[in-house]
Amino acid sequence: MEPLNEDLEAMFNFESPNENCRFFIAKENGEIVGFSRVHFYGWNKSAYVISLLVNIGYRRRGINSLLLRVVEDFARENGAHVLMFDTAIDNIPALSLYLKNGIKICGYNEKLYGNAKIALYLAKEL
Ligand SMILES: CC(C)(COP(=O)(O)OP(=O)(O)OC[C@H]1O[C@@H](n2cnc3c(N)ncnc32)[C@H](O)[C@@H]1OP(=O)(O)O)[C@@H](O)C(=O)NCCC(=O)NCCS
Repeated sequence: MEPLNEDLEAMFNFESPNENCRFFIAKENGEIVGFSRVHFYGWNKSAYVISLLVNIGYRRRGINSLLLRVVEDFARENGAHVLMFDTAIDNIPALSLYLKNGIKICGYNEKLYGNAKIALYLAKEL
């Protein structure tokens, strides 16, 4: 299923309840065309990539690979030992992207999304 084309600017208009939450954005001609939202946890020195999105029309141009590299470098430089992700088992674009970037499947959760889809957990040691 193709996700809707979203108003990415609108997604930043909220107060984050997590002070260790960071957004990484990709811009083209002044417009946000992709972003990643990452939460940082001190107790296990991890960075959890809560969301990754590139706007339709800008995909398959390496934007997310670039964002991922920036997130990874930032996490490493700030003491994270592992980068973590989850995605639906049938999300082929995301899974392909992760596997191509050395991110490995490390578990699953049948209840995470509240629908019939199984969530896969993935991780990369930094
Ligand atoms: C997943 C997503 C973020 C990828 O962003 P992107 O900028 O298009 O990714 P890139 O161009 O950096 O792609 C890197 C690699 O990922 C893989 N990939 C990306 N999109 C793919 C697709 N539709 N089908 C198969 N492989 C794909 C390819 O290996 C690709 O390398 P290649 O183009 O050299 O073959 C984008 O498709 C998206 O926003 N999807 C909707 C939101 C989502 O599912 N987020 C992730 C899970 S929460």
